Order: sequence, then structure tokens, then C-alpha cells
Amino acid sequence: MTDPISSEKHGDVQIIWSDNPPVNALGAAVRQGLVREIEAAEADDSVKAVVIACKGRTFFAGADISEFGKPPVMPWLPDVVDRIEACTKPVVAAIHGTALGGGCEVALGCHYRVAVPSAKLGFPEVDLGLLPGAGGTQRGPRVAGVELALQMATTGKPISAQQAHDAGLVDRIVEGELIEHAVAYADEVKDVRPLPRSSERDDKVTDVDHAIFEEYKKANAKLFRGDVAPQANLETIKAATEMPFEKGVMFERQKFMELMAGPQARARQYFFFAERKAAKIDGVGDDVQPRDIKRVGVIGAGTMGGGISMNFLTAGIPVTIVEMNQDALDRGTGIMLKNYQSTAKKGRMTEEQVGQAMGLLNPTLDFNELAECDLIIEAVYENMDVKKEIFTRLDGIAKDGAILASNTSYLDINEIASVTKRSEDVVGLHFFSPANIMKLLEVVRGDKTADDVLVTAMALAKKIKKVAVIAGVCYGFIGNRMLIPRQLEAEKLLLEGATPAQVDKVHVEFGMPMGPFQMADLAGVDIGWHRDPERIESIRDALCAKERWGQKKGAGFYDYDENRRPSPSDVTAAIIEDFRKKEGVTETREISDQEIVERTLYTMVNEGAKILEEGKAQRASDIDVVWIYGYGWPVYRGGPMHWADSEGLDKIVEGLKRQQDRMGDSFSFSQLLLDKAEKGEKFTR
Ligand code: 3HC
Repeated sequence: MTDPISSEKHGDVQIIWSDNPPVNALGAAVRQGLVREIEAAEADDSVKAVVIACKGRTFFAGADISEFGKPPVMPWLPDVVDRIEACTKPVVAAIHGTALGGGCEVALGCHYRVAVPSAKLGFPEVDLGLLPGAGGTQRGPRVAGVELALQMATTGKPISAQQAHDAGLVDRIVEGELIEHAVAYADEVKDVRPLPRSSERDDKVTDVDHAIFEEYKKANAKLFRGDVAPQANLETIKAATEMPFEKGVMFERQKFMELMAGPQARARQYFFFAERKAAKIDGVGDDVQPRDIKRVGVIGAGTMGGGISMNFLTAGIPVTIVEMNQDALDRGTGIMLKNYQSTAKKGRMTEEQVGQAMGLLNPTLDFNELAECDLIIEAVYENMDVKKEIFTRLDGIAKDGAILASNTSYLDINEIASVTKRSEDVVGLHFFSPANIMKLLEVVRGDKTADDVLVTAMALAKKIKKVAVIAGVCYGFIGNRMLIPRQLEAEKLLLEGATPAQVDKVHVEFGMPMGPFQMADLAGVDIGWHRDPERIESIRDALCAKERWGQKKGAGFYDYDENRRPSPSDVTAAIIEDFRKKEGVTETREISDQEIVERTLYTMVNEGAKILEEGKAQRASDIDVVWIYGYGWPVYRGGPMHWADSEGLDKIVEGLKRQQDRMGDSFSFSQLLLDKAEKGEKFTR
């Protein structure tokens, strides 16, 4: 293996280069090389100052995550950072790309930092269930101030070079050639003594009012819910205000080790790689090139069509959007503009960018204008006949090589493709609502979908900042299919004596953003309803018959006030009671939280296993990506399949067997789950 660290002399400034693609992760060879070169520079009398810089797309993006859990190789990153800081000659970090985690800590160990305007600095360790463990929680607040360090470490979100400069984390922003500027800066400061060492500063960490920690927690309660890493980050940063540096780093180390040994860090680190693996398509070689997508067509300017269009417009790709009548078209484009304007109001877009995005939109009533599009996405309501009619028309007008996509959530892509003479160009692109915000995209692979169509879909997903997962054709694909047993059992539990609030509480305490009934109310209880108030075959039908369609009606499983705040509903309780009578249920019983977990979460794992054994998901980790990005499954539990693995598959099977009689004929075991449990295997490792 070639040495990733080298050095080069510019006058009396020594440049230490890291060249460790793709992201200059601080693996063992990098750490060893950095110490070696710092010591060499110190020993060389002709060297007056040092610059640390990286080749390729970024400054160090952090510790090498693939080394986690393996036997440690010396030196530790904390020692490397200490060694840099202890250097008796000025060391300047030259930052481009992203200085993240350990990378930001290396920068903090340097005596000075210069950065290009596009650079970003951050502490994303929290996303891996960790905290900055190479002195970052102690040097960070000393340099950037407690509030900013707290925000960076607990949210994991990087800050811009400008923000870093304003806070004193970057000493100079340089336009143009970074290395030239960094060398010039090193030359300017080469005689400065004493050297500004981050660990020796205490101006920003003394006399800090400790109330800010509680206030921050209160203001960001969601961040701390169920997740241990944000709290540990907060405590270690607080320690920087209470202890001398040496004690603070010992405290940091102890907390870091505790987190690293815990299940949440394991889940998050698993998920880091799961997310990246999802982009890989089984059986499709790297040589398959994506098709060129210069213009996208969207059929339907409703909530979905509008949201889908915004993704492309924001990414600078022109969109032709088609509707049946002018009113619907105006309404749809009006909502898109309003959404953009509200983003601008929050400071996340400029007015000019809003104008640019909307300027790329071509709203039309003329279906034939889709002829110029390279990708056409149908986003009308869920009805097979309507979709078939649209695809027949599209087949007649779309240009050769255009990709024809459906945004269906449930329907059979093969059947839709069969009405065209180009099934190989047809694919499912299942966006999640609100489509301009939700990160997940299920790319549904039909029997005949061409490889380059899939490659195009995955590449495009990345361009519009979505996380895409390949799904096979089945009812509900991966995500919605797993909702079905959950919803079924949740409703049966109501019949047997549970309340909507009790079921939802178990899910929220588990870490989901909402429970099954809160979700039904949000999405619309009437989705998929047959619209016949006389036909009452479920509690849902009974609610729909009384126009309790969810939040939009101010009433569903819950009652809602004018601010859409829910409260348990006596009306719903009476409807459930009536339905029980109708079904001949005379007795209800106390339902335990454990039973709710087994019937509504274990059943999801079972369905996930079926999806896997039928080959409708490429790998178990893809199922986890779907549930984390599509439905808010708590990432610190790693998704349903990883969670099942960490619970133990034998425990899942045992729980399901316990509930099997109650669940009745609607439940059947996945053979894969039974086999794996029997053999003591896991889905995700
Ligand atoms: N360690 C090991 N591999 C890493 C890595 C890391 N820190 N960061 C990225 N990679 C790998 C990815 O797995 C991916 O590999 P693949 O091509 O085989 O799938 C490849 O590098 C490219 O990564 P992305 O696809 O994510 O590339 P992007 O350009 O989209 O993003 C990035 C680049 C912003 C740097 C992003 O990769 C990222 O956020 N990386 C993680 C940063 C991080 O979490 N750092 C903290 C590490 S923990 C730490 O430092 C502990 C310390 O405090 C002691």
C-alpha cells in the first residue's frame, strides 16, 4: 500500500500532504504518517512553519469508520492531534471540502486554520452515535464558543467557512489557490510565539452560565428524545466549562468509550454503510452508463406531482408539468411557488433561486409537450385503468429512449408496462409525501426494466439529494407493504381492548415520530376507503362513515383543535365500542405494551423477511434504509431488520408464536425468519 502521507518544502514552509481517497479518512497509515512528518518538520532546522493539506475532494472527513470495532492501531487520533498542537513550529490547516469529525479535530489541533469559501466544518459524530473523541468537545468550545460547539456536536450539521470564520474557528477565508494562501499565511505567522494552542485557551469557557445547557435541551427536545449521543455530547461540552483541559479530555474519552460500546452507536454505524450500500444495484456492472436526462415531464400537478417537480427544479433540471385543466394547473404551480417562498423566508433559499427554479417550469395542458422529455413521471391517483390509459398515450408520444415512470405506491409496474411497446423503459419511482422534502425514493424494478434505466434512476436520485432503494414489484413495494400487517394488528388491538392512544404511545416511546393511528389521521383515514357509508367492515370504515377522515376534518381516531393538536376522542371510543358489538366482541381485556410491540413491530420484521426471501429487496439493510428515511424509524435502532437482529431473531419468533392465535389467519411466518432464528443467524451481519 502506498503511503498516504507525504511532504514537500516551499521555502521554509513544509507542506504535509494527505492523499487517502475517497475522503481522506484518518486511518492508521494517515495517523502514523502525520506524526512522522510533524516530528520530521520539527527536527528540521530549515523548516519554520508547517501546512497540513489534503489532496482530492476534501480535507480529512473524520476517523476511518471502517476501523471501528477492530483492534486499535496506534497512534490514537487524540494523540495525533495532541502531537500536532504540541509542535513548536506554527502549523496551519488548509481546509477545502469538508473538515468533519476527526478532520475538524485535526484542524483544531493546528495553530491556525485557513479555508476556501466553500469549505464546511462539522462534528457529525453524533450521527454515528458518538461524540468528537479526539479532543473536539474540549477544543471546540474553547475556539468556537460553547453555543456553536453545542449546536455542531448535537445536531451533527456542518457549518460554512463563513460561519466558522465569524466564530473564530477559521482564521482566514481565502479565495483562489488554497495552498498558495496557506503557505503565505504560514510564512506570516512563522515567528509568532507563544503559539495559539486551542487547549490552552479558556476565554470562551470560563464564567459560562450553565442555564444555557438546560435551555438548549428544552429548545431542542426532539433531538434528545431516546437518543443517548446528543446528551453525551452536551455533557462533555459542559465539562469544558467546568474542568481544566486535561481532565475534560479524560471525561470525553470515557464518554466516547461508553457510547462506542453501546447498541445505538452500533446501529448508527451500521446504518452509515447501509445507506451507501443501497445505491448499489445487484447484477448491474459499473460499466452501465446512465441515460442523459435534460428535461423531466410530470403528469399531475397535485400534491405529489408538484412536490416531485420541485426536486428537479431545485437541482436545475427543467420540468414540463401537465394537468387536465387550467384551474388544477394554476393551483398546483401556485402551491409550488408558495412552498419555495416559505423556504426562502426561512433563509434556506434566496429570492433569486426561487425565481430560477420556477423559471425552469413549463406548466401546460398539452400532453404532447411531454414528447421532448427524457424522463416522464406519472403522478395521478391510484387507479390501474387510469394509469394504463396514461401509459398507452405516453407510449404514443414519448421520444425513443425516454424513461416512463409511475409514482404508484402499490400498483403492479409490470401490468402498467405491459400496455406499452417498451417495457424495458418503464420503472416505478415511488416518492414519499411531501415529495420535495422526504429523502426516500423507492425505485421499482419491473421484470423487464433495463439496467441503464435503473442506473439512471439511482444517479438522478443522488442528483436530487434523495436516498434511493431498489424494490421489486409487489403490493406496496417495501415500505407500504410492511405497513399492512402493522395496521391490521393495530386495529385488531382496538377491538380487543386497546385504545388508539395506547398503541401510538408504544410506538412513540419506541422512537417513531408517530404511531399507526396518528399516522392514519395525518395521511387521511379515508385513503383507500370504498366510499360507501353503509358498508362497515372495519373501525376505519366506521370512522369514515361518520366523516372522521383525520386531521383534515378535525376528527379521526383523535379529535383535533384548531391548531391540529390531538386529544383522545369519546366519539371514536363510542364508534369502536359499537363496532365491537357489531362483531360480537363481548369482552375486552387489558393489553400490555409488550403485546403491542409483538403484534405491530415484530409482524413488520416478519413481513420484511418475506420481502427479502421473495427477492423484493436486494438486501436486509435496504429495508432499514426505507424505514428510516421513509417513515422515521429511529435511526439509533438501525431500522427494523437491524433492530430484530439486535433483539435476537429467536426472541422475535418466540413473541410472534405467543401472539399467533390472536393474530389468526391473517398472519403467516416467513420461512426465512424461522430458519435464521433456528440457526442463530442475523439478517444484517
Ligand atoms: N470513514 C470511512 N469511510 C468513509 C468515511 C469515513 N469517515 N467517510 C466516507 N467514507 C466512504 C463511504 O463509505 C463511501 O464509500 P463507498 O464509495 O465504498 O460507498 C465513500 O467514502 C464516499 O462517501 P460518500 O458516498 O458519503 O461521499 P459524499 O461525497 O456523498 O460525502 C462526506 C462525503 C460528506 C465526507 C461523507 O462521506 C460523510 O459525511 N462522511 C462521514 C463523515 C463522518 O462521519 N466523520 C466523523 C467520523 S467519526 C470521528 O471522526 C471520530 C473522532 O471524533 C474520533
